[in-house]
Amino acid sequence: MKEMIKNRRSVRTFEDVPLKDEDRKAIEEYIATLDNPFSIPVTLKIFHAKEYGLTSPVIVGAKEYLVGKVPFLPHCEMAYGYEFEKVCLFALTKGVSSVMLAGSLKREAFEKAIDVKEKEVLPVASPLGYVAKKMSLREMVMRKAIGADNRLPFEKLFFSQNFETSLSKEEAGLYLEALEAIRLAPSAVNHQPWRVVKENDVLHFYEFKTIKESPIGDVQKIDMGIALSHLDVVMEENGYQGEYFFDEPSIAKGDSLEYIVSYRALQK
Ligand SMILES: Cc1cc2nc3c(=O)[nH]c(=O)nc-3n(C[C@H](O)[C@H](O)[C@H](O)COP(=O)(O)O)c2cc1C
Repeated sequence: MKEMIKNRRSVRTFEDVPLKDEDRKAIEEYIATLDNPFSIPVTLKIFHAKEYGLTSPVIVGAKEYLVGKVPFLPHCEMAYGYEFEKVCLFALTKGVSSVMLAGSLKREAFEKAIDVKEKEVLPVASPLGYVAKKMSLREMVMRKAIGADNRLPFEKLFFSQNFETSLSKEEAGLYLEALEAIRLAPSAVNHQPWRVVKENDVLHFYEFKTIKESPIGDVQKIDMGIALSHLDVVMEENGYQGEYFFDEPSIAKGDSLEYIVSYRALQK
């Protein structure tokens, strides 16, 4: 999965073929094993696009969509983003690509498919399929407009003890590979809201808010959940088990920053 983080990109143009039965089955079995650091139940299912009228103006060729829902509770976007990204990374190990869609989808059809009830939300859905040989012109233009291939430099995202001092790669120590993996994560409009302060052996996660919250939640908290999934994938593959806890440190921060959660690596 660690390799998938380095190789991934959002895909919007797919081969005009359905998922192979064995790939769909493997993804469904993987979904059944998932949980998240917030212990909020996330439902994820694969649907045939045609049968449920699932469409997106930015997607070409996908025959299936991954759709989900979560109870509308504090941290629900993070729980959802965490599990959703793990499925996307696992799917990629089978050669199946995806792109999270928060805005570019016909929401009513997706909500109907997964049967969103009162006090539940569908944060994002994604097509699942095999990447087409040629990217659609629309996808090319979109990627360019968003600057999808760009990422902020390490020192603008990760800090040491406080927000005044950038974290050096040497100081990152056992967290270096995980932080680099967070930097490569997908995020809404590629805004990359993840900020991390390393205080001794603990990582404190903050969200740098640039997108207004909507009635169905904060899309950038999905990004934060994605970052935590990249952290766990790398730390687990490197032989660590993490512990998450809420304990906001008294670190001075700007108004746009919201404390999210803290993490400490433990040897397995
Ligand atoms: C929470 C979230 C919501 C997103 N919503 C959309 C969307 O509505 N439409 C779209 O085309 N891409 C969407 N994306 C994809 C991002 O634009 C993409 O991840 C970003 O530009 C970085 O490109 P990359 O994933 O190829 O690295 C979303 C990504 C995330 C994480």
